[in-house]
Amino acid sequence: MVTRSPLKLAVLVSGNGSNLQAIIDAIESGAINAKITCVVSNKSDAFALTRAIKHNIPTAIHKNQDYPTRREYDAALVKILRDHGAELVILAGFMRILSEVMVNAFPHAIINIHPALLPAFPGLHAQKQALDYGVRYSGCTVHLVDCGTDTGPIIIQAVVPIEQNDTEETLSARIQQEEHRCFPETIRLFAEGKIQVNGRHVQISP
Ligand code: GRF
Repeated sequence: MVTRSPLKLAVLVSGNGSNLQAIIDAIESGAINAKITCVVSNKSDAFALTRAIKHNIPTAIHKNQDYPTRREYDAALVKILRDHGAELVILAGFMRILSEVMVNAFPHAIINIHPALLPAFPGLHAQKQALDYGVRYSGCTVHLVDCGTDTGPIIIQAVVPIEQNDTEETLSARIQQEEHRCFPETIRLFAEGKIQVNGRHVQISP
């Protein structure tokens, strides 16, 4: 049996960090052979930073306003991530679009989670978009990141039925339960070398 070394993860955040927590928990329970080498936030008050510090994970604050252009921001971000040896970059509620500087630096190695069944309802307020449209099912999507808004190849999706009395809050809470399952599962597949990308199609080995 070949033993792989733990996959080195960088997690980018802007807010609460419940997905970061799900990933930390999955690693600590031994479900994923990975190590988070840094958590980077573009917001200094993100609660995700507190979660990382509690688990002794190195953190960095990388503020939007410190860089005049998206490309310059991303070039400095690439340096931080490379300095920490990142092999897979995880956008866990990171509220920024990446430029080609970041996307090209980590080919097929940046993933995002979105709270809808893409390609439906990309962008902000996906849960509200789904409720306003009147769909019966929404869910979450883990996908590879390209330079568009939630447009990269899809890796995993989970369906969440919409209930008659759902509000944005109740639907978001049920979608998050699925996110906390799907994101660690996707990382496990990467860590086990089971993901292959052919154009828009992601093959998952059994
Ligand atoms: C999640 O709902 C995710 O789908 C979206 O941002 C939210 C982040 O939540 N991309 P958290 O910070 O992980 O709690």
